[in-house]
Amino acid sequence: MSMVVNKSYVKRHTMSFVVAHWVNAISFFVLFITGLPLFSPSFHFLYEIFGDANFQIIHRVFAVIFIVNPIIGIFLARKGYWIMMTEPLKFGKRDMDFLAKFPLDLLGMNPKVEKQTYYNGGEKLNIALQIIFWGVLVVSGAILWFGAGVIDNSIRTWFIPIHACAAALGMAMALGHIYLAVGVNPDSVHGMVDGTIKAKYAEHHHGKWIEDCIESGEVSEEEMEEAVKNY
Ligand code: HEM
Repeated sequence: MSMVVNKSYVKRHTMSFVVAHWVNAISFFVLFITGLPLFSPSFHFLYEIFGDANFQIIHRVFAVIFIVNPIIGIFLARKGYWIMMTEPLKFGKRDMDFLAKFPLDLLGMNPKVEKQTYYNGGEKLNIALQIIFWGVLVVSGAILWFGAGVIDNSIRTWFIPIHACAAALGMAMALGHIYLAVGVNPDSVHGMVDGTIKAKYAEHHHGKWIEDCIESGEVSEEEMEEAVKNY
């Protein structure tokens, strides 16, 4: 079965992976907003609007969703998670080339960049950092939630700034990520809606991935050419 769909699109993400991405994105945002008043009194106005008990419960409910989502995803969206977790480990020369020329690309100077694999150098960096932030948030959050009486308070309080830093850095990365998706590469967003992207976009942004798919027989060279032309 060819990976070409609707004549000019190629399959990229499974729907279970797409759902896992959105559950992660939504729970991260809800956690960030409901965490703000815990971080600083200047956000206490949010408590006045929504109720402090509500906000604190929502933070804990979404913390559970944020933790459980990728664990379920590893089983239900096995292929997508496998690619996402192994791609950053294969960081090489072509990824360095991408990162080095990325600023020129953003300035609209269209530099010639080496063909990228399933995820490009920037995406690999984003994945690695978001996995690290996820781990720091989960461990520090669990210590703050369950550590009272178990871990000495003089140590436990250190996990408040650690938790806040990971949240702030994760949000900064996420905002950059959203800008790059919606503002710079709107064609990529299609992949996070129905799992497919334009063949032309795939070839242009993930040329090595397409070459690998041709080699493994997921799509033939002719089908790919046809799909790119069809757009
Ligand atoms: C808290 C919010 C979010 C987090 C933590 C997050 C994280 C990620 C990660 C780690 C990936 C895989 C690699 C990558 O593309 O860098 C990804 C993929 C993707 N995300 Fe997000 N995301 C968030 C929100 C969003 C939003 C709001 C959009 C915009 C519509 C978006 C669009 C995409 C797209 C299009 C991809 C697929 C890229 C591809 O196929 O190459 N994400 N996301």
